[in-house]
Amino acid sequence: MTHADAQWWRTAVIYQIYPRSFADASGDGIGDLRGITAKLDDLAALGVDAIWLSPFYVSPQKDAGYDVADFTDVDPLFGTLADFDEMTARAHALGLRVIVDIVPNHSSDQHVWFQQALEAAPGSPERARYVFRDGKGVDGNEPPNNWNSVFGGPAWTRTTNPDGSAGPWYLHLFDTSQPDFNWENDEVLEEFDRVLRFWLDRGADGFRVDVAHGLVKQPGLPDFSPDDDANSMGGVEGPMAPYWAQEGVHAIWRRWRAVVDEYDGDRILAAEAWVVPLSRMAKWVRPDEMHQAFNFAYLETHWQAADLRAVIDESIAAFGAVGAPSTWVLSNHDVVRHASRLALTAENPQGHGIGPRFEGLPDPVVGLRRARAASALMLALPGSAYIYQGEELGLPESIDMPDEARQDPTWFRTEGERYGRDGCRVPLPWTADAPAYGFSPSGEAWLPQPEAWAELARENQQGVGSSTLTMYQEALRLRREQGLASAELTWIDGLPNGVLGFHVGDVEVYAVVGEGASLPLPVGQVLLASAPVTDTIPADTTVWLRS
Ligand code: GLC
Repeated sequence: MTHADAQWWRTAVIYQIYPRSFADASGDGIGDLRGITAKLDDLAALGVDAIWLSPFYVSPQKDAGYDVADFTDVDPLFGTLADFDEMTARAHALGLRVIVDIVPNHSSDQHVWFQQALEAAPGSPERARYVFRDGKGVDGNEPPNNWNSVFGGPAWTRTTNPDGSAGPWYLHLFDTSQPDFNWENDEVLEEFDRVLRFWLDRGADGFRVDVAHGLVKQPGLPDFSPDDDANSMGGVEGPMAPYWAQEGVHAIWRRWRAVVDEYDGDRILAAEAWVVPLSRMAKWVRPDEMHQAFNFAYLETHWQAADLRAVIDESIAAFGAVGAPSTWVLSNHDVVRHASRLALTAENPQGHGIGPRFEGLPDPVVGLRRARAASALMLALPGSAYIYQGEELGLPESIDMPDEARQDPTWFRTEGERYGRDGCRVPLPWTADAPAYGFSPSGEAWLPQPEAWAELARENQQGVGSSTLTMYQEALRLRREQGLASAELTWIDGLPNGVLGFHVGDVEVYAVVGEGASLPLPVGQVLLASAPVTDTIPADTTVWLRS
């Protein structure tokens, strides 16, 4: 990497690869690292700056790899460390940086430390690496407090002592198979320094830090009675749960920043922190903490002009106040894909997902149209943007997935009351007429691919002017060419209700958001349009112009 690339992350477009659903080279129906390597040219051609890979570490896959049993090895499902090295070398040769996921809030219950903890006596150093507590009530048969798991149900599970009697409980903010670490324990701190160095030494350009608002819990683990449902990642208005966004977490990020800064090449930390308001989330990206934080406030903003303008202003101000770039994101592996989400007609909390019984299902045509407009808006904004695999194809959520196919722990822990996140995790379509649409040579796919996805296959969209893929490619090319990501945004006032307009560098961007709104096409050369425009920009359309 050259010096000119310093602080590349301030303007980067980072493409999220969800390895199990990207490309399967082995034919077992689950994507893998060799599959990724084979497709990196496509991502370079798309014009992204970096890839971020969701976990590919040794894991029983109870939470699709976010339950890690060995933080420094590759699960055979995904390949080997040598495959990782090969993938990284190829990515670097193509000018793509490689961000890996790190999951510090919890391990898998199959991690050797947790197994040792279960075998060890209460009060032992082995147990001190996790959060064990005696239960309440008669014989300690009630959980130590009333916390709920993000995936539904209690956040505590009772252990069995080596002699067969009922033992203390352990904390798991997520699935029972994901015990929370005790971040007041020095061994945990030291182990994660080692994990960071392991991947940095192998050439990783940074980390996406899972649940970066968790880790530290309020002393005494007090009960929490939220008005609404506690089973969320946080990031909702109202009292902050005693397990999210505790002050103590920032010392950990300062420590990690020092480790990352030991390395050359401008390596980064990006926080998954569901914290509101943005001014609070900005604490995660103070100069001695992380480089970036996912802008979930932006992701969760409805397709409404005034709300979008407010969140864009708030983001630029809040992140700017601490010297960090704003980030922008519309989709990831935990939320309903934005080609469906932006056309839902009923509320759908993060993580609940949608399926056939959801009342408020989207009109797919409206959804895709809005998604294209929203993406074209996002990619014009200054700062760094995240793209989730498949959004560049306009993929919608898979809604009609049969119940038997679902795998998200949310689905099981709520007994089907919440669909969970499988609908946004379906393997990608690469070619229309190949088995599994080119995802896997054997035709296997770990989640069924909707038939309607054939026409969305990447190959069908390649080189087609009107395709979503071409729109993304063009947007990324222009974004770079026009220096939009490092330019200043100034609003154009006096536009009709439902219309957003701003200058960014030499480009004018107009997004006609509101239903029924439209805007006479301003004078200038149309650089990009998310839908055809005549002398009018119709609703759900974004246009970039050079005046
Ligand atoms: C993060 C991940 C999500 C996972 C959870 C527990 O929110 O994005 O997929 O289930 O953490 O690790």
